[in-house]
Amino acid sequence: MAQQERKHGSGTVSPGDTTERVGMQVIRERGGDPEEIRETLIDAIGAEFSTYYYYTNLRTHLAGNEDYKEITEDARLEDRAHFELVMPRVYELDGKLPPDIHDFMARAGCPHAELPDDPTAENVLEVLLEAERCAIRTWSEVCDMTRECDPRTYDMAQRILQEEMDHEAWFIELLSMERDGEVNPAGHFVRGEPGDAPLSTNNRFNESA
Ligand SMILES: [Fe+2]
Ligand SMILES: [Fe+2]
Repeated sequence: MAQQERKHGSGTVSPGDTTERVGMQVIRERGGDPEEIRETLIDAIGAEFSTYYYYTNLRTHLAGNEDYKEITEDARLEDRAHFELVMPRVYELDGKLPPDIHDFMARAGCPHAELPDDPTAENVLEVLLEAERCAIRTWSEVCDMTRECDPRTYDMAQRILQEEMDHEAWFIELLSMERDGEVNPAGHFVRGEPGDAPLSTNNRFNESA
């Protein structure tokens, strides 16, 4: 018996063609540019990966400020979660990570969060705060690019953006007190587990936990 025609049973990609992706065509049909989105994502997760590395060093230099260390650890692990969440999307959009990590780091969309020459808690917190602000600008740009055309990337970006806004508020609170003796609350206490990433977790890193 002949198959009935169905509304979405066929489209512009030929059956069995693995050189084209319907997941990219539908973005183009809605006015988006999947290649531009993909390249912006690589720059954005380059910054997440860089931040994960550099926050390791910043966190260790907060020794003695155990509350600062704990919050920096949450932000550090959540940036790793952001990299992990978006990385597969690069491949879905027919891209790949740069084969050479130097190339990956060179195109990261934010400055490296380097340890300041004088690594006082105040100076370290300033670096952390500015890194979070760069992340907010980055994921806001991705939201703008995808809001009308790419719900999958938009969903990832808006979830990450919410966590970056948490992070900015955390470091405003800590820096305000450390530098200015001012109470400037984030309204936050702690994540459930270090680096909980309540909105952006892709796969849990320690499944046995
Ligand atoms: Fe992040
Ligand atoms: Fe962050």
